[in-house]
Amino acid sequence: MASFHEIRLTDADGQTRETFAAGSCVSVHVWCDVSEDESVYLEFAVHQRSLTPATLPKGEGKLLAPRPSHLVPIYVVSTRGDGVPLAAAPGEKLYLCFRLEDLPLISGCFFVAVRIRDAKTGEILAEDSERAAFFVRAAGGSEGGVVTLPHGWSTTPDDQTCRDQEISIENLRALQIEASSACDLDCSGCYRQHYSEETVNVNMSAEVFARIEPHLAGVDTVDFCGWGEPTLNKNLPRFAMTAKNAKVRTVMFSTHGLLLDDRRIDEILTSGVTDINVSIDGATEKTFKLLRDDADFEKLLANLKRLTDERARRGMATPRVCGSFVLSRTNLDELPPFVRLMASVGVDEVIVRNVIPLEPEDVSEALFTGYYDVDFDQSIVDQKIAEARDSARETGVVLFIAAERDASEKQRECFCNATRMTFVHHNGDVSPCCFLAYPVNRILRSGKKISLPPKKFGNVKETDLMDVWNSDEYREFRKRHLDGVEPLCSGCPAYYVLRR
Ligand SMILES: C[S@@+](CC[C@H](N)C(=O)[O-])C[C@H]1O[C@@H](n2cnc3c(N)ncnc32)[C@H](O)[C@@H]1O
Ligand code: SF4
Ligand code: SF4
Repeated sequence: MASFHEIRLTDADGQTRETFAAGSCVSVHVWCDVSEDESVYLEFAVHQRSLTPATLPKGEGKLLAPRPSHLVPIYVVSTRGDGVPLAAAPGEKLYLCFRLEDLPLISGCFFVAVRIRDAKTGEILAEDSERAAFFVRAAGGSEGGVVTLPHGWSTTPDDQTCRDQEISIENLRALQIEASSACDLDCSGCYRQHYSEETVNVNMSAEVFARIEPHLAGVDTVDFCGWGEPTLNKNLPRFAMTAKNAKVRTVMFSTHGLLLDDRRIDEILTSGVTDINVSIDGATEKTFKLLRDDADFEKLLANLKRLTDERARRGMATPRVCGSFVLSRTNLDELPPFVRLMASVGVDEVIVRNVIPLEPEDVSEALFTGYYDVDFDQSIVDQKIAEARDSARETGVVLFIAAERDASEKQRECFCNATRMTFVHHNGDVSPCCFLAYPVNRILRSGKKISLPPKKFGNVKETDLMDVWNSDEYREFRKRHLDGVEPLCSGCPAYYVLRR
């Protein structure tokens, strides 16, 4: 009887991974044992997990009950349907690669169920949906039902199509637009407190934004967050609406959430923002105040509740609200209750990231021994993460553990998808990512602190954004980055904070 030998998910570089960012190329490699007298075809079904009623748009049919681990089929494709011939050389395993070229559509947890079916009867001979799980982060949108995903097939294991495609792609797919570099908080662990040059506190002007505006129409994602507080810029809702009107699928920002009063909530809901990430980091007032500059915990929770209640009252599916938890020794115990707390205020998703130490003495706050040499019992971390998963299952909140304890140098990934994304500063300067936008400290694995100067490729007030993006210097950077030889990316903390 036909059976699976191995199933593996890889990224555009052929690296094995379990989680993928929006816009990624995902290859599902399948090796099967199929006897010569069997005639089979392979089926791939993409399921999305745990859509709560509040996240489903109105008018799309029956709302699904928010059952824990509920799997909603969104896409099914088969080798038979696509006319892909399957044949294994005698005595060899049958190999097939199913490639999702692009995952820009929906944010959430997805599972690829792989099935071997009998070609004559359609009977399922083998099924695997456990190992092939992946997550698409912050792709925005709220589409339910069947969608069309561009895909491809390959029957030879060494296929490099994805990587070749990635290398040749020079089109800009995502913009990080720094709506504000100012902030009214001084959170102790924040990068803003650790620049090697003076912090600049400026909102992006309408003039600078107008220079970016013509290029919005071509991108999938616009994130209005830099190293500041975007809601301090009164133009944020207008900027967001402009992006939405330009048909940008994901329009998002990260915020401390303390300024979300009724007026701002109304402006945000009207603007078409699809995703809001609220940074909280604690489930108790004490921890929150410690990590978030003594800010008002009750006020923040009330703001979140008002936002999600008002969204429901208007029958809106978006913005999807995500509670951000930067994991450290200080707050580890609070992760499971944090998931429940977020559910109680209507938050859809919790994302957990590693803390990035910004001074050598902060390395002891890091929990994952795979990267920094820290002395901490990893089973305690595993236990808390398992409890948090239980909390997520009970409440229907989507939990994304972006923190990885085994993020070794070998497994490093660029956090920001630098071959498709660029960062535009409040003043129009263009950098590859938020980690190269400012002179921030890097603590290397050895514990050594280095400080790199910011890297800028131009300014949109002087040069058209696409000309900056397509300049020889920037293209060379992207090529080196992709080949893993860009010196500015060496020791990048993003590799540590998020492997996805
Ligand atoms: C710099 S803030 C800017 C947006 C907004 N002010 C906020 O707090 O969400 C963006 C994100 O970076 C995170 N962050 C800041 N410093 C960090 C660090 N040292 N390690 C990991 N994440 C950090 C914050 O928690 C926040 O989620
Ligand atoms: S609110 Fe955000 S930008 Fe401001 S200090 Fe805190 S983490 Fe940094
Ligand atoms: S420094 Fe390099 S690796 Fe790190 S986020 Fe930026 S582009 Fe990616």
